[in-house]
Amino acid sequence: MTPPSGRVNLLVCDTPQAVAERAASLIERQVRAKPDSSLLVATGNTPMPTYAELARRKPKMSEVCAIQLDEYLGVSEHDPRSLYGWMERSFTRPLGVGRVLRFDAMSARPDAACAEHAAGIRTLGGIDLAILGLGPNGHLGFNEPPSDASAPTRPVVLSAASLLSNAPYWAPLAVPRQALTVGMDLILAARACLLIVTGEHKREVLGRMLEGPRTPQLPASYLQDAPLTVVADRAAC
Ligand code: F6R
Repeated sequence: MTPPSGRVNLLVCDTPQAVAERAASLIERQVRAKPDSSLLVATGNTPMPTYAELARRKPKMSEVCAIQLDEYLGVSEHDPRSLYGWMERSFTRPLGVGRVLRFDAMSARPDAACAEHAAGIRTLGGIDLAILGLGPNGHLGFNEPPSDASAPTRPVVLSAASLLSNAPYWAPLAVPRQALTVGMDLILAARACLLIVTGEHKREVLGRMLEGPRTPQLPASYLQDAPLTVVADRAAC
């Protein structure tokens, strides 16, 4: 698999654990170089070994600001199925992250909540490092297809593919149908992006993302033009 642009750095590791170690080193390097880094933090299964590896290493994160990437609409931060709860359990708490910028997912005005989150990110000076996972349908955060490079931070309706892939976390309840996501505009403006990809089930979408045309039908394809490092295991390549 050949990355298409000079800006994309593809690092292939033998195992998911090696991916976690490599990705953790990149995050560690970022926070050493800039202790008050703003990190956009994906949840989902893929980055969990990376966060566990970071928690083992315990770099100093007290000045870091963790920015929530996405959330289900109407789901409270106290709900264990919220993505905020997941970020707190896996990232901010074990790593001793000092500051958190989160969505107000309980707001009666989701558009205003998104505008406020985007303004908060801009006030921080943007995103130093966006830590991302790759959706099975090519989504980034909850920027579902079709989302182009200018898609803003906004409320979204989840695609059938996302409802299906998130179903195990919600069973026996149905997955909420709407969510809030940081937009493609702010993700692509990050000073660096780190995309973590593991497993054979991601091989086809990773190939299209790196080698195919940039298209709203595969939002992650716009990362081809971003300062991107992909850390992937052999199974995904
Ligand atoms: C979650 C998120 C999602 C996931 C993507 C991959 O905060 O942003 O875009 O990164 O759905 O999920 P996993 O890693 O579970 O395959």
